[in-house]
Amino acid sequence: MKLNTVIAVLISMVMVCASCTGRKKEAETALRVGVSMPTKDLQRWSRDGADMKMLLEQSGYKVDLQYANNDIAAQAAQIENMLTKNCKVLVIAAIDGSALTEVLKTAKEKGVAVIAYDRLIMNSDAVRYYATFDNYKVGQFQASYLAKALNLDAAQEPVYLELFTGPTDDNNVNFFFSGAMDILQPYFEKGVLTVRSEQTGKAQAATPAWSTEEAQKRMENLISAYGYGPKGTVLHGILSSNDSVAQGITNALVAAGYTKDTFPVLTGQDCDITSVKNMIKGLQSMSVFKDTRTLAKKAVEMVDAVLKGTEPEINDTKTYDNGTGIIPAFLCEPVFATAENYKEVLIESGYYTEAQLNNE
Ligand code: BGC
Repeated sequence: MKLNTVIAVLISMVMVCASCTGRKKEAETALRVGVSMPTKDLQRWSRDGADMKMLLEQSGYKVDLQYANNDIAAQAAQIENMLTKNCKVLVIAAIDGSALTEVLKTAKEKGVAVIAYDRLIMNSDAVRYYATFDNYKVGQFQASYLAKALNLDAAQEPVYLELFTGPTDDNNVNFFFSGAMDILQPYFEKGVLTVRSEQTGKAQAATPAWSTEEAQKRMENLISAYGYGPKGTVLHGILSSNDSVAQGITNALVAAGYTKDTFPVLTGQDCDITSVKNMIKGLQSMSVFKDTRTLAKKAVEMVDAVLKGTEPEINDTKTYDNGTGIIPAFLCEPVFATAENYKEVLIESGYYTEAQLNNE
């Protein structure tokens, strides 16, 4: 090898080593961000967690991502651990919005900012920002779908409905339920709509932990108490605040003999794969798509702003009071999804592949 070539090779080796060390140093000094998600059981949260991790890492942060298996104490312990491990910002989707006050006192003492993700965290002044969807609009989408599908404006006969929402410890439930009820209430008042079970309050319609099994049990109880069935007592529609609940309702209705031709109008939210497949089969009528990629992107912008001392984009400064004052929020836009538009909304947008939604 000529001397010049040897020197050139040596120089490039030194440069490669230097850039390796540089990158290693960068990784060592990268700020750590904690991401605390409620559970992996529900598809949306695994996806939220994965999207957050990817985007935060792309922005140069180290990520401590934890799922708490819907266990409130486990979530608090995981958050405590993130604080011990020196996370500089915490992004938290709370299981119970009112159960983190104690652990977040430590965050506040350490100067660690908290971003409430999807669900508002109550009674903590460590919460700096809130990234979510327009939850009131989600409820409005569901109820206006019911109103249209059941032709409530022109109904001559009484229309029968049952109501299902999520657990009362999820602050979003207040918005989903009131968004829907604000549309349905006038029809109840006019006598157009009737809930035979009279379980019309938020607590009566609640589903603990958004559990599919709990929703199925409650629907089965309603079926046996009122004799609902394709050949029995008529049931025209069911308001369900999300897909995990809708899936339980679908299971109970199918077991009671309902088919796609007799199925009551049933709403949902999240566009879980199981529910989209049910929509395609005619065993759920609609869902609300909340693109986790959009929400994760907003939350990462908030993390960036906190760490760089800048202001993130906010579009709501009046709705979300967590008991310590209004939390500045960004509300992303939910999207209406049905068996008619799911290809465009879910497949063409790259959220799912066609194969994932295949019912075969
Ligand atoms: C979320 C919904 C989700 C539900 C159950 C709510 O707080 O906003 O998207 O379906 O929790 O996990």
